[in-house]
Amino acid sequence: MTILVTGGAGFIGANFVLDWVAQSDEPVINLDLLTYAGNVQTLSSLEGNPQHVFQQGDIADSELVKRLLTEHQPRAVLNFAAESHVDRSIHGPEDFIQTNIVGTFRLLEEVRAYWKDLQGEAKDAFRFLHVSTDEVYGSLAADAPAFTEEHRYEPNSPYSASKAASDHLVRSYHHTYGLPVLTTNCSNNYGPYHFPEKLIPLMIVNALAGKPLPVYGDGQQIRDWLYVKDHCSAIRRVLEAGRTGEVYNVGGWNEKPNLEIVERICGLLDTLRPRADGQPYAGQIAYVTDRPGHDRRYAIDARKLERELGWKPAETFETGIRKTVEWYLDNWQWVENVQSGNYRDWVEKNYSGRSA
Ligand code: NAD
Ligand code: DAU
Repeated sequence: MTILVTGGAGFIGANFVLDWVAQSDEPVINLDLLTYAGNVQTLSSLEGNPQHVFQQGDIADSELVKRLLTEHQPRAVLNFAAESHVDRSIHGPEDFIQTNIVGTFRLLEEVRAYWKDLQGEAKDAFRFLHVSTDEVYGSLAADAPAFTEEHRYEPNSPYSASKAASDHLVRSYHHTYGLPVLTTNCSNNYGPYHFPEKLIPLMIVNALAGKPLPVYGDGQQIRDWLYVKDHCSAIRRVLEAGRTGEVYNVGGWNEKPNLEIVERICGLLDTLRPRADGQPYAGQIAYVTDRPGHDRRYAIDARKLERELGWKPAETFETGIRKTVEWYLDNWQWVENVQSGNYRDWVEKNYSGRSA
């Protein structure tokens, strides 16, 4: 038995692979293009471990995907690979169309051909699990109930539109060809190995570097935060027992405005790594021009996953955010290594044009 994971050198995929190897003997084939967001250093603890086979490559490379499927005969394919940053999709949507839509389509085509030829129990047990996002549902009014799996799709950014398209393709491969698919739509993740272009790691990294903490607009946009290892445990549970063709929302019931998140990080750093001048990190907060088309609120109703599969998150936001800040303080070398010239170019592109 083997699983094939795509995007397993990114933030969530790598956490998933590390947890998988720690908890099971089953080999994992890891296909990742190693874009700016992919980092083999995150997987360095698996070097020389025969349970993990890393293959650099594109999910849109049909020949490569076919070869990997034929060679390793996985019992499941889990698709984490994506372009994932909303701000980058605003500056340049094309990569999002290519990977999230064309890439998912090519992957589905190869998986369909592979699955069609499987026999008996191997065919029945096969699963294609697609990792998606709550952003496909659009933005919620302040008093609206959280997104259920029945909420209509209303993607607002090129990123969420490309993920919505991929979700629809996955759904159609089940409906039309009978491919045994599972889709998870998760809220905002945070935790170890999160690339510092996203809110939480960016704030930790900027705070420690004495730089401004750029809060978009009024900072009152709400996100629903889930510790990444809880997302990984939800995916394992859906893979194990989810009903094919079904969608499962994943979330931690942790709705918080961005400003509160930033202030919480500042407070933790004030205790764990006080500024040399004794001043609070919150003094570095800077309100900057808002994200175009910024979704105001996301909130996930994860009751279906709890009811049907008995999944619940293990971390509260309080325990998870403390672990996260401590992880960054303890793994500063990882942070320094990912801040390449490419990263600095992105920071310049995204933040230099935003007035305070
Ligand atoms: P990430 O950007 O950190 O990692 C993406 C990984 O995919 C990288 O390792 C990258 O090299 C790889 N990749 C990109 N294009 C590829 C291609 N064409 N072929 C093969 N590999 C490719 O993203 P993440 O935050 O880990 O998100 C993983 C998945 O989870 C995505 O599908 C994302 O939409 C979804 N998701 C993310 C969050 C979140 O809060 N980060 C929440 C819900 C769902
Ligand atoms: O909801 C799930 C989604 O969460 C995933 O599908 C995406 O892949 C993931 O990137 C994330 O999207 P967001 O846009 O919500 O995450 P981000 O960390 O970019 O921003 C979180 C909030 O913080 C959002 O309201 C924008 C705001 N923000 C972000 C940055 C980078 C700031 O105020 N300042 C910043 O510098």
